Amino acid sequence: MKSKKLIAANWKQNGNYKLLSKLVDGIIKKQKLLKISNDILLLPPSPYLEFIYEKLKKSKSNKIISLGVQNISPYEEGAYTGEISINMINDFKCTYTLVGHSERRHIFKEDNQIIAMKVYQSLKARKKTIICVGETLKEYNKKLTKQVIQQQIKTAFSKSLNLITPNKKNIIIAYEPVWAIGSGKSASINDITNVHDFIRTKMNKIANDKSKSIKIIYGGSVNPKNTNSILKTPNVDGVLVGGASLNLKKFIDICCAI
Ligand code: 13P
Repeated sequence: MKSKKLIAANWKQNGNYKLLSKLVDGIIKKQKLLKISNDILLLPPSPYLEFIYEKLKKSKSNKIISLGVQNISPYEEGAYTGEISINMINDFKCTYTLVGHSERRHIFKEDNQIIAMKVYQSLKARKKTIICVGETLKEYNKKLTKQVIQQQIKTAFSKSLNLITPNKKNIIIAYEPVWAIGSGKSASINDITNVHDFIRTKMNKIANDKSKSIKIIYGGSVNPKNTNSILKTPNVDGVLVGGASLNLKKFIDICCAI
């Protein structure tokens, strides 16, 4: 049987009620019409979680189309102005969280330790947790990719090793090279193969027999043209899509690419 791929739409800080409504309605309609069997995940800006959840529930699509948050607080609760805790997210029936996105790491200066705290919060709350890793262009050019990723992965799980539960399939690692995000230049199949194999080997070492349930997905300038070859690469269990996920036709083409 063909294994399902995870196709995740990261809408980042884009859209408004009108645009996101149209997108969600379109995705729900096309998913049914085209009988898309891959798993679809929507990661909207947080203020829109509730209305999107209601739309998914009303159309009975909430079993096929999942909902997640783009970021969570590293703290459980308290005086952390502007932060959104995992317990608040629970009220919106999100099944997924995204942590350690390169924009959080580089624009908001989140380091590996902060990301480890977020991973802990997310796994403790039994969320499927997408942990983003990836090297900058400078690191890529210096051939430091594996070294950087090894450190990102090792620290991310430093507080949560005992929370990896294989039967819940609760860990997804997203390889997103910083230089490929929003640049229109995705990583080559060769680079994706090497890095995903490396992540798989590292996770085998970190989580032993639990590591088989871990998914590894790719993100960075994914579009309808390159998705098929990316998804056919061994050890690629899905894609994390930014820009192209804001266009209904492009996103649906990506969902149907394999
Ligand atoms: P783009 O698809 O726009 O390159 O963004 C990728 C990304 O950051 C997804 O999280």
